[in-house]
Amino acid sequence: MPDKVTAPKVRAMKAGGQKVVCVTAYDAVFGRLADEAGVDVILVGDSVANVLLGYRDTLGVTLEEMGHHVRATRAGVERALLVADLPFGSYGASAAQAVESAAYLMKRGAEAVKLEGDFAEEVEAIARTGVPVMGHVGMTPQSVHRFGGFRVQGRGGDGDAVVEAAKRLDAAGAFAIVLELVPRDLAARITAEVSCPTIGIGAGVACDGQIQVAHDVLGLSKGVFRHAKRYADGGEVLREGLREYAREVRERSFPAEDHSF
Ligand code: KIV
Repeated sequence: MPDKVTAPKVRAMKAGGQKVVCVTAYDAVFGRLADEAGVDVILVGDSVANVLLGYRDTLGVTLEEMGHHVRATRAGVERALLVADLPFGSYGASAAQAVESAAYLMKRGAEAVKLEGDFAEEVEAIARTGVPVMGHVGMTPQSVHRFGGFRVQGRGGDGDAVVEAAKRLDAAGAFAIVLELVPRDLAARITAEVSCPTIGIGAGVACDGQIQVAHDVLGLSKGVFRHAKRYADGGEVLREGLREYAREVRERSFPAEDHSF
C-alpha cells in the first residue's frame, strides 16, 4: 500500500506541519472503521480494560489479553500505523522485560508499542531491537493510584518534571509522545522543545496531533469527559436499531420474504 502510515512517516509529519490523527480500536470492526475513515494511527490502548472489558481501571489488563486484542485489530487495519499499549506490569521491572513484552505484541501484529511514564532506558532498549516506541506522559492512567485520581498533571511547579520526562523520552528515541491531561501552555512548551511529534489528549490544540478513545467520541462510553467531544451518538443509533429489530420479531414482520429461503 503506497500511502501506508509508518513510524518514520508519523515522525516526519511534525516537520511537515501535518497534524497526526490517532484513535483507539480494540477489535477488527473498529480497526476497519477507523482505517476507512483515514485515521493515521490506531492504538490498541490498555483502555480496552475499562472501556470494553468493564474492568475498574487499566491496571487489570494482561499482556496476553492485549495480544488477543492486537491480533483482532490487526485483522481490520491496512493503512494506519497500528500501535499497541504495553500494559501495567509488562515493562516496569527492567529493560529486558520491556523488550520481551514489546516483542510479544509485535508478533501479534503491532507495528509499534506505547508505554507510560519516565522510562527512557526501556524506550531506548526497545527501539534498539527495531521496534518504534511511543511515549506517554502527564496523566498516565496506570499510575492513577499514585496520582490519587484522574487529575490534570503539570500545573504550577510540577510542569518542569513533565517537560523533563518528555525530553528524556525524546532523546531515548521515542517516535512520538502522548501528552495526557496537561495544561495547554505546558503542552505547547513541550511540543516546541521535543523533536518528535506530541499527541495530545486533553492537552490543547498546539500538540502535533490528537488522540481520542473512539468509544468516547462516538457516544458509546458511559462517562462524559471534558477532553472528549462527542461526534456521534453511536449508543442511541445502535439502541434504536436493536429496538426496531426486537419490535419486528415480536410483531412477526421479520424475517420477511426477502430474508427467507
Ligand atoms: O489506552 C489508551 O486509550 C490511551 C490513550 C492515550 C487514549 O493510552
